[in-house]
Amino acid sequence: MTKQKCAVLISGNGSNLQALIDACAKPDFPVQIVRVISNNEQAFGLQRAHKAGIETLIIDHRGFHSRDDFDLALHDALIECGAQIVCLAGFMRILTADFVGKWPAKMLNIHPSLLPSYRGLHTHRRALEDGVKFAGCTVHFVVPEMDAGPIVIQAAVPILPNDTEQTLTQRVLEQEHHIYPQALR
Ligand code: GAR
Repeated sequence: MTKQKCAVLISGNGSNLQALIDACAKPDFPVQIVRVISNNEQAFGLQRAHKAGIETLIIDHRGFHSRDDFDLALHDALIECGAQIVCLAGFMRILTADFVGKWPAKMLNIHPSLLPSYRGLHTHRRALEDGVKFAGCTVHFVVPEMDAGPIVIQAAVPILPNDTEQTLTQRVLEQEHHIYPQALR
């Protein structure tokens, strides 16, 4: 089987990256991860990639004068590793429309809410404050508008009476780890 080459972009812990690594390790999974790129050299996800024998690259956004320059470096790094698909997995940088336009229907993101509800940050805290009964997560194609774009898969997670931001985050993350590999497949 010819596997599609995928690059994963991270900024932090990389538990979703781990779910993708585990899925890609299965012989019948149609995707291989060719490079993990982080804008943050401290990201624990880099260690996960090392452990799995995947090439890593740090592109620190603080070393660039503009978003355009950073995104150009990112694009070059993606082309260089032969990526055909890009997965954003807890990548906490806003990407320029120019960059996004270079990966039409080739870039996926995971977001910890049932989009289009709760775009942006602190999704679970806001859901708890609003008293909604369901939280969840979404894998979607990336378009220039943040946390928008065609939805591939969602998982709904009931909010329990005693939930805190922490407990809800944990239960939603478990679902993220199920749906991201499915969406990638
Ligand atoms: C995940 O919950 C992901 O959905 C979220 O960051 C977390 C990263 O966790 N992404 C966003 O908020 C993007 N706007 P991880 O590093 O353990 O995968």
